[in-house]
Amino acid sequence: MNDAVNAAWDDLRALAGGTSGTRTLSELFADPGRLEAFATRLDLPGGPILFDWSKTHLDTPLAAAFTRLADACGFAERRRALFAGEPVNLTEGRAAEHTAQRGVGNDATVEEAAALHERMHMLVEAIHQGALGEVRHLIHIGIGGSALGPALAIDALSRDGAVVDVHVVSNIDGCALEQAFAACDPATTLIAMASKTFTTIETLTNATSALAWLRENGVADPYGRVVALTAAPDRAVEWGIDETRVLPFQESVGGRYSLWSSIGFPVALALGWDEFAAMLDGAAAIDRHFLDTDGADNLCLRAAFADQYYTRLRGCQTRAVFAYDERLALFPSYLQQLEMESNGKRVTTAGQTVDGPTAAITWGGVGTDAQHAVFQLLHQGTVLVPVDFIAAIQPGDALDPAHHRILLSNCFAQGAALMAGKGSDDPARAYPGDRPSATILVDDLDAATLGALIAFHEHRTFANAVLLGINPFDQFGVELGKAIANQIEQGGVRFDPSTEALLAAAGIGD
Ligand code: F6P
Repeated sequence: MNDAVNAAWDDLRALAGGTSGTRTLSELFADPGRLEAFATRLDLPGGPILFDWSKTHLDTPLAAAFTRLADACGFAERRRALFAGEPVNLTEGRAAEHTAQRGVGNDATVEEAAALHERMHMLVEAIHQGALGEVRHLIHIGIGGSALGPALAIDALSRDGAVVDVHVVSNIDGCALEQAFAACDPATTLIAMASKTFTTIETLTNATSALAWLRENGVADPYGRVVALTAAPDRAVEWGIDETRVLPFQESVGGRYSLWSSIGFPVALALGWDEFAAMLDGAAAIDRHFLDTDGADNLCLRAAFADQYYTRLRGCQTRAVFAYDERLALFPSYLQQLEMESNGKRVTTAGQTVDGPTAAITWGGVGTDAQHAVFQLLHQGTVLVPVDFIAAIQPGDALDPAHHRILLSNCFAQGAALMAGKGSDDPARAYPGDRPSATILVDDLDAATLGALIAFHEHRTFANAVLLGINPFDQFGVELGKAIANQIEQGGVRFDPSTEALLAAAGIGD
């Protein structure tokens, strides 16, 4: 860390240990301008989204000190480099050009991404017009970033019906694939093989079994039913997929940032091209906000300030995200990969050990279910967990409006209760309060709003990485376990006594 960064952290520690950090949330609300300062409504293509960070401990002096930290960390320059398509992923010498998929970024990449999208659009239209016969089901096979985005988007946006019924299969556990087979008619099923590298063992194994299932069930040309979504088109062709059904995307799009590329094919196929395009538009509006707004007015940066405050200055090891919306049930899992794979690092971009915590553990669930399961700890446990609530003003259901009213009342009640707490003569019944939460309130959950929500979190993750001085775009931590699994498969290598005993008990290895 350079001197300016150290000095900025010293200022922040002093503020956190002094007047700023010691005022309770309720005391902070004595400032009549607090709500206006920390709850901001953005008008976006899918309708407004309210980003309410007023129930966090951020105050004006802290926000100003974090802005000085961001300056010392070269935030503006790193953001410029990101959007310019410069190799911000230093360890792999690569750019991170997911925003270009949405039309915001380096001109040449934006143009190339648009051409690749057009190719996907044409294939989607051709399939809709019957070029591959009747298509009623899609088994989307991929893992990590090649599965979580499509799974989230399909689950969130297809409740009112879809022209193709999508099943996302990621796990190598055959039970996952069998479950999809049971729900699909082989004669009208397409397989999407989604893999950036086209080398991932889970995806290749699952795809091989899916082809066998098609063949065993009377499909004469199983390969003719496969569409590949990949940044390694040559490997897909080599694997046997005709190049007319290979939808490439650019190498500079990271796996967990790839929903916007051809990895989003299931969204376009099942919900229509306009929905996919709307998702990109919603995300692009957040890109522009992130690119054009400075300091704590930049909502992604403001959220990162709060994240750093809790992780670094208050010692919080986790952050919880609760979607008060069944359609966003997969959002916490999506964020887990985005945040933990991006910022779960221990070295800086300069290769030095980071002198403090990096990413918090992201966890969460859906409200109101979680209230009856884990909220006890949030209200009365001994660890402080900052919470994000996400909810929509418009219901996703057509039932008695009481459902949605009660859902939202509960969401807002939890934030209020965490903050206010409640005294009692009986210690078991006392709530300490002063527990922080942020609330993201969307108007209506449509494709554009979902795109905006995801892009907001992408940039929040990037902003956190800049404040920590780390590279959010590599993931070397996942490689060692994969390599050892390969050694086990190949045999001939000895491991520790515990691992050897487990292998022997399962009858694996030699
Ligand atoms: O193992 C981690 C990872 O590389 C993720 O980053 C990625 O999203 C996932 O595996 C799948 O990789 P691929 O898309 O290349 O199959």
